[in-house]
Amino acid sequence: MVRSLIDIATLSVDEISALTNCAEDIISNPAKYAHLCNGKKLATMFFEPSTRTRLSFEAAMYEHGGSVLTMADSASSSAAKGESVADTVRTVSCYADIIAMRHPKEGAPLVASMNADVPIINSGDGGHNHPTQTLADLLTIKREKGRFDSLTIGFCGDLKFGRTVHSLITAMARYENVKFVLISPVELKLPGYIRKDVIVKNNLEYVQTTDLEAVMPELDILYMTRVQRERFFNEEDYLRLKDSYILTPEKLRDAKPDLCIMHPLPRVNEISVAIDSDPRACYFKQVLNGKYMRMALILMLLGIKP
Ligand code: CP
Repeated sequence: MVRSLIDIATLSVDEISALTNCAEDIISNPAKYAHLCNGKKLATMFFEPSTRTRLSFEAAMYEHGGSVLTMADSASSSAAKGESVADTVRTVSCYADIIAMRHPKEGAPLVASMNADVPIINSGDGGHNHPTQTLADLLTIKREKGRFDSLTIGFCGDLKFGRTVHSLITAMARYENVKFVLISPVELKLPGYIRKDVIVKNNLEYVQTTDLEAVMPELDILYMTRVQRERFFNEEDYLRLKDSYILTPEKLRDAKPDLCIMHPLPRVNEISVAIDSDPRACYFKQVLNGKYMRMALILMLLGIKP
C-alpha cells in the first residue's frame, strides 16, 4: 500500500527531523532538487478555497521539475454531479503520481487514501487536521527558535474549529518540556478529544484562559488564528466572537523580545498590520517555509532520494 499523509501523528519525530533537514537543504542547494520530479505529476483537488496550500504545492512540484493538474474549483468538476470522493480519487490517480486534497468533510482525505493507488496528502479536512500547515509551522519554529523542546506556546482564537491548531498541538506534544497556553472564548475552546487524548495523555502542562495579555509575558511562541466563519452554524455567533482577539503593538508591551508570532493565514482582523514590521512577526516566513516542507514531503512520499 502506498504511503499517504492524513494525520501529522503518523510522521515520527525522526521523520519530522528528516523533512526539516531536507527542507533546509533545498533552501541552501535549490539546483540539486530542480529535476528530481521530472516526468511526475501532482494533482491538486481542492473542494474548499485556498491560496497558500494549493499554490505552494503547485510551486513545490514545479520547482522539482514536475507538472501539475489542478482541480481548483470543485463546482466545475463531476463532484458537482454527485460523484463520490472514492470514485473521484480513483479517477485522478489514473492521471497523477500524487494528490493533494482539501475537503470540507472531516475524514474525506482518509477515505481518498483508502481508494487511491497514489499518495494522498491531506491539505485540510474540515475543522479536523491540516498536517502540511504543521510542517510549515515546524520548520518556522526550528529556524526561529532553534529547537522544538522547552517551549511555551500560546494558541489564541478559534481553538475549536482551527484545524492547524489541532495538528500543531499533536506534533509538539512529542517533544520534552513543552507547555501549551490555550487562549480562547469559552465557546471556541480546544475540543475535548485533543485536550484529553493528546495533552493530558502525554502528561503535558497546559492552561486554559480567556485573557491573552495576562499570559503574554510567559510565551515563547504566540500562534494566532482566525475565527473560522465557514464552520459556524449561526452567523450571529460568528459576528459576536469574530473580534475576540486582535493583536496590536500595545498588547505586545510585556511580550518577550524573542517572541515568535505565528498565524497560518489568511488573517482577517486578528493581527493588526502594524505588527507586520515587528521582527517578531513570522507569519509570512511560515508561508515560504510551507513551500520548502511540501517539496520535502513530495520527495518522501514518492520515495525519491535527493
Ligand atoms: N494556511 C492555509 O491553509 O492557507 P490557505 O487556506 O490559503 O491554503
